[in-house]
Amino acid sequence: MKVPFYGHERQYLSLKSEIDANIQQVLMSGSYVQGPMLAQFEKELAEYSGSKYAIGVGNGTDAIWLSFMALGFGPGDEIITNANTFFATAEAIWIAGCTAVLVDCDPLTKCIDPAKIEAAITSKTKAIVPVHLYGQCAPMDELKAIADKHNLVLIEDNAQAIDAAGATFKVGEHSAAVCTSFIIQKNLGTFGDAGAILTDHAGINETVRKLRNHGSNARNVHSFGFNSRLDDIHAGVLSAKLKMITQWSDRRIAIAAKYTAGLQGLDFITLPTVRPGYRHVYHLYVVETNTAAERDPFVQYLVDHGIDAKTHYSIAIHQQAGYPWGKDARIVGSLEHAEHNAATCVSLPMFPELTEAEVARVIEVVSSFQP
Ligand SMILES: Cc1ncc(COP(=O)(O)O)c(C=O)c1O
Repeated sequence: MKVPFYGHERQYLSLKSEIDANIQQVLMSGSYVQGPMLAQFEKELAEYSGSKYAIGVGNGTDAIWLSFMALGFGPGDEIITNANTFFATAEAIWIAGCTAVLVDCDPLTKCIDPAKIEAAITSKTKAIVPVHLYGQCAPMDELKAIADKHNLVLIEDNAQAIDAAGATFKVGEHSAAVCTSFIIQKNLGTFGDAGAILTDHAGINETVRKLRNHGSNARNVHSFGFNSRLDDIHAGVLSAKLKMITQWSDRRIAIAAKYTAGLQGLDFITLPTVRPGYRHVYHLYVVETNTAAERDPFVQYLVDHGIDAKTHYSIAIHQQAGYPWGKDARIVGSLEHAEHNAATCVSLPMFPELTEAEVARVIEVVSSFQP
């Protein structure tokens, strides 16, 4: 049996009539850019997430740097994030012209380690960008206390964790803006690129709406801006899929519980750690091999036995060739846990449409590996 890493076509088929109906509705409306379907999806997304405003943009990366620009961050400003994230988190900081300050992650959850942040704060620091990596929230209560103490803004990179929550907080509760991605492989994904910003701040809402549309909120009147809109066809797909997000997250959690029960006791890998009371929505189920030397043979073994395993992310931000790219970036403290994660991470297949037989097969193959 082959077990794929993604189930995009399965998901489409499971919701085909709703998705097709929404796409047809957009096609027949004759309104494809900033039309009624986008407005409908933004309203649904804001209601679902409990935010005052949801602003659809072109992708998740744009969501992050548009938030920075709406807050007035630019050259000379420093923004702190963790070194083990998808490249786009740091890239967005550079697109806005800011300096990326990279700190280490917590060795267990892989989210930013709050204990590493204060050493990175200078008079230039403006914001902290926690990444809710793999589907688990960073500890926002602790981050909020640090941000308040130093008068910093929190902006959440929630590309991987829609529908996640902390034990004592909701996503968005402690931050100025939540940035999300709807690229197809995300927990809520469209057939292409899309993203959104969620915020309770009227000023951010108003500014991002202008920035995404050539600096315009009235016909023929422009100020500084870009083109980064969420197309109505994608909004239609996302509107159909949003209704399923809780059910899909619950299924991901159930699959993760099966993996964890089935793989417990294998001494060559470490399984994911969930903070008590957190709702980890398992965008990815990532294990770590004990040593870097074991990782690639393990991935190859899985692939050879029909299990499509991947690595997220095998090169940390500061390890990318060309670092620091002639742009401003600095490292604060040791990044040993981020580097260990990059060297040892292995993602097992994880999507809601995985069958019980496929989950069992993944457990069987992983368990049969001899390091
Ligand atoms: C953590 C993280 N941040 C940002 C992004 C950027 O999103 P996009 O690819 O939609 O630009 C992604 C995903 O691609 C991501 O995983």
